[in-house]
Amino acid sequence: MKPILEVRGLKTHFFTDAGVVRSVDGVDFTIKQGEILGIVGESGCGKSVTSLSIMRLIPSPPGKTVGGEIMFQGKNLLAVSEKEMRSIRGNEIAMIFQEPMTSLNPAFRIGAQICEAIQLHLGIGRSQARQRAVELLREVGIPRPEQLIFEYPHQLSGGMRQRVMIAMAMACRPKLLIADEPTTALDVTIQAQILTLMRRIRDEAGTSIMLITHDLGVVAETCDRVVVMYAGKVIEEADVKTLFKNPKHPYTQGLLQSVPKLKGPRERLYSIPGSIPVPHAMPKGCKFAPRCPLAGQACWESEPELLGVDERTLHHVRCWLHHDSRSAADLVKTAGKGGTT
Ligand SMILES: Nc1ncnc2c1ncn2[C@@H]1O[C@H](COP(=O)(O)OP(=O)(O)OP(=O)(O)O)[C@@H](O)[C@H]1O
Ligand SMILES: [Mg+2]
Repeated sequence: MKPILEVRGLKTHFFTDAGVVRSVDGVDFTIKQGEILGIVGESGCGKSVTSLSIMRLIPSPPGKTVGGEIMFQGKNLLAVSEKEMRSIRGNEIAMIFQEPMTSLNPAFRIGAQICEAIQLHLGIGRSQARQRAVELLREVGIPRPEQLIFEYPHQLSGGMRQRVMIAMAMACRPKLLIADEPTTALDVTIQAQILTLMRRIRDEAGTSIMLITHDLGVVAETCDRVVVMYAGKVIEEADVKTLFKNPKHPYTQGLLQSVPKLKGPRERLYSIPGSIPVPHAMPKGCKFAPRCPLAGQACWESEPELLGVDERTLHHVRCWLHHDSRSAADLVKTAGKGGTT
């Protein structure tokens, strides 16, 4: 399938009084047409900054995208005019956020807000727009949409508000939908319904979806492929099956260990010891080395590249243990000796 979005070497930094925060520091990934790509990683690893960079919505100052390319249908979004970007945003790429209340105006009825989005993007009249709004709300599984359009956001439950947001995002039939933690604020049953809705949108409209989450359960259920981020970089990428069956990066392995298991005896939930490095104390080598149980000398000295480890599955990993250029055996030999430099 053709790629719809290709992000290459993306760098977005924040220039603060305390110094430069390299939130996104060379991110590469591709989303194909009709694919659901999951982006996972701990809080602060740069997931939201990546998505806001794609939308060109980084607050500036202090933020700035300082490098890379964002090719959307063959066009570099970093090079288009603000006017063109405005038309791409909402028409071809839509985004939904974690907390729908922040994106809905509490002072207006639901119907008016959806109609405005539809009229803006499709340039159709009011009564037609209202009809379309009702259709859209029905499509996202809202019962009695003819009545709901007269309600205000605060009259709706969290799950309903998120559906309204998705309906608004889908109003213009975007080619790419970016969903940043769309279900985190919702309870589990509603979460499952929203994820089912995402898959349906992909199946029926062929929309590509970039789904940001820190929940691997959500990924397993919904995504085709996964990108794992750590400290502003992609450290592993694979299709869902491969990633869950054969994770290569010690960080991914740790993340998977921290997913609670349904079967077997109850264990204490595993969590990876330590935390993401702070911006002004980034390790010189692999950013995960300080927390990595297998870190050897090479890992402390220089940062490995994101390298393909399986041509068939396009499994990629950024880890010296999986580089051919240095003997993996040598690395493993020094592994665990704690190479603190
Ligand atoms: N406006 C800003 N000014 C300074 N630093 C920022 C700004 N916005 C984000 N950052 C920093 O960029 C880094 C990445 O933030 P980002 O919001 O992308 O994380 P995330 O992966 O989305 O985390 P979460 O899972 O908590 O949403 C963090 O260290 C954050 O503090
Ligand atoms: Mg975020």
